[in-house]
Amino acid sequence: MEKLRLGVLASGRGTNLQAIIDAARSGRIRAEVAVVVADRIGARARERARRAGIPEYFVDLAAYPTKEAFEHGIVSILERHGVELVCLAGYMRILTRVMLEHYRNRIINIHPSLLPAFPGLHAQRQALEYGVRFAGCTVHFVEEEVDAGPIILQAVVPVLPDDTVEALSARILEQEHRIYVEAIQLYQAGRLKIEGRRVRIRPE
Ligand code: GAR
Repeated sequence: MEKLRLGVLASGRGTNLQAIIDAARSGRIRAEVAVVVADRIGARARERARRAGIPEYFVDLAAYPTKEAFEHGIVSILERHGVELVCLAGYMRILTRVMLEHYRNRIINIHPSLLPAFPGLHAQRQALEYGVRFAGCTVHFVEEEVDAGPIILQAVVPVLPDDTVEALSARILEQEHRIYVEAIQLYQAGRLKIEGRRVRIRPE
């Protein structure tokens, strides 16, 4: 079986990207990161890509007349690198129809909450302030709305009495790295089937 070609979009430090790179390198997933695209010039994710010898690009929204044109720019990079699955890994922008239509059902995202609770920014802080007993993370297919779309995998972590945002975020992040890689492997193996809002995971 051919390795699945991934295109990772990131805005920041890139620990999820790193988890994917490491899993691909060690053969834990039958995939390879073909290209990394960042929308922030200083994103640490870019450095991680360079260190791993993966082509990386900074695409500057300000250099394009519209967000759609910006995304056409991203799509052309992804296409040039033969990307089959787009992984949003801390990519902090809402996608337009340009990306969504080009890669329909081929874009996945990781979010640090048990969706549909706490979409948007600072999900871990939202969870802590709300007072939930359990928090977690979600890998899902990407649709028009923010942090919505059919759920592939979730992981749950407890919220401890003296938790800080940092402590809770770290506990969640460990699970993010685990389930993101697992979701990619399920996709690669053709085991995910979208049925309306639900994703059926076919047995091996
Ligand atoms: C992760 O916690 C990810 O779940 C979150 O940004 C962080 C990126 O960290 N994404 C979102 O909040 C998306 N709505 P990373 O750059 O170290 O992977």
